[in-house]
Amino acid sequence: MTFSRALIDELLHRLFINAPATSLRDEDRRKSDEMAGLLAEVERAVARRAPKGELVLVDAAAGKATVGLVAAELILAPRGRPARVRVIEREPKRVAACRDAIARLRAPCVAIELVTTDVGDPAAWPNQPDLVVALHACGPASDVIIDQSLAVRAHALLLAPCCTSKDVSAAALAQRRAEQLGMPRHAEVRRRFVQSIVDAERTLRLEAAGWQTTVVSFVAPTLTPHNLLWRAQRVGEPGRMAGAADQLARLRGTG
Ligand SMILES: C[S@@+](CC[C@H](N)C(=O)[O-])C[C@H]1O[C@@H](n2cnc3c(N)ncnc32)[C@H](O)[C@@H]1O
Repeated sequence: MTFSRALIDELLHRLFINAPATSLRDEDRRKSDEMAGLLAEVERAVARRAPKGELVLVDAAAGKATVGLVAAELILAPRGRPARVRVIEREPKRVAACRDAIARLRAPCVAIELVTTDVGDPAAWPNQPDLVVALHACGPASDVIIDQSLAVRAHALLLAPCCTSKDVSAAALAQRRAEQLGMPRHAEVRRRFVQSIVDAERTLRLEAAGWQTTVVSFVAPTLTPHNLLWRAQRVGEPGRMAGAADQLARLRGTG
């Protein structure tokens, strides 16, 4: 199903603005475009799952949980079966904005749980969730979300990383490899190389852990430069894992 912009606009307005005679701001419209791209991915991932009990979705580094709440109303509630959304966000103000929005959500069979903490807190994560979604997870948060998704044996992950800072785990590796290869230090040239190594390391880390991974563009790059989505599904295929582990070792210079 395609989710129309009008439908998403109306929902974002009701949840997060909710003032008569007002309209969405430009940043909300951009979010609406992003949601249209991401919701199609969430819907496909949810359609692949048929859990006996409730379906569990984690919205990690959630902000005010736009993804989790919109998915709850437009994708989970229409299934008519029990579902749960676990929202993990460390900024109390954003969690408070999410709590306000929940009062206006129309998703009766979906329980929403808010956890105000760091995504690195193992206690925040449910065991074997059906889907982890993280939209614009800043810098190192993307790596922590990958690690936690692996640790709790999530079934699927949709991750759109955001900025890459020097705190990102593979950034030091990328700089080391750049020096070994004699890459110039010109900022724009170096930045692209570093980003490529960081992206490759994340992809291979997921694949080596048994996750079939594709990297797709979920919105146009004109909307956001952070428009890549890691679409990963736990399959545990031994040949694929061994191949990825070998590539990862070569990337890290240990193979
Ligand atoms: C760019 S915002 C994206 C928010 C939301 N996913 C969206 O796309 O609307 C990144 C969010 O991640 C949260 N965040 C960053 N690092 C985090 C961490 N280590 N643990 C929990 N939340 C984190 C920030 O507080 C912020 O709300």
